[in-house]
Amino acid sequence: ALPRDLEGRRVVVSAGGTREPLDPVRYLGNRSSGRQGYALARVAAHRGAEVTLVAAHTADLVTPAGVRLVRVGTAEEMRSAMLAEADGADAVVMAAAVADFRPTALVEHKIKKGERDPEPLELTRNPDILAELVEAREAGKLDASLIVGFAAETGDPRTTVLDHGRAKLARKGCDLLVVNAVGDGRAFEVDDNAGWLLAADGTENPIPYGAKSRLASTLWDAVGRRLGRQ
Ligand code: C5P
Repeated sequence: ALPRDLEGRRVVVSAGGTREPLDPVRYLGNRSSGRQGYALARVAAHRGAEVTLVAAHTADLVTPAGVRLVRVGTAEEMRSAMLAEADGADAVVMAAAVADFRPTALVEHKIKKGERDPEPLELTRNPDILAELVEAREAGKLDASLIVGFAAETGDPRTTVLDHGRAKLARKGCDLLVVNAVGDGRAFEVDDNAGWLLAADGTENPIPYGAKSRLASTLWDAVGRRLGRQ
């Protein structure tokens, strides 16, 4: 049986990949299936937490029992939802794959092939939601005990990926960061994952290869321990 160690805790998890519209039928998206975020939500609910899942585009996943789902589309929508939901949370986990850029213009009608060569696509930077959550907390505008990020990196899992994770943890200023290797069929659209759990206090723990629900349990163990000490 799972421990009920998150009883009385409120957690917010983001999942899936945002889609940034180009015209009424096209978008910029990514390969995130939402499986890791859904596993996090399901395990937290099993362990007694009150869970809000802010989900962008996901594979055909079933909302876990007892989880409140907030559906969003774009990074901007996810940003508003996260800033609203995160206030007062014990833990906020950004497991979503947020598009870093969006098309600058949303074309009202379907773009036609036409006769001429296509125009280059102009992109605008999206807000970094994780960094904003941390900033809002530092500014005293957001009450959230623990803020957790994810980092999906390509490269050698034992060197490059870990180094990128350390740099990202420092840059984003979150309390915990899960870094995992992607590419070569890893992590995206599959049921297994592996990586490291890095903490702002300098602790680093490898997460062995296994089901995304296992990784979720490992993360909630770390969150539960930290909340217990606060
Ligand atoms: O910078 P990068 O996308 O690699 O960082 C990954 C982490 O930051 C994830 O937790 C992701 O959910 C979050 N993120 C975000 N807003 C963005 C891009 C990433 O919150 N625009």
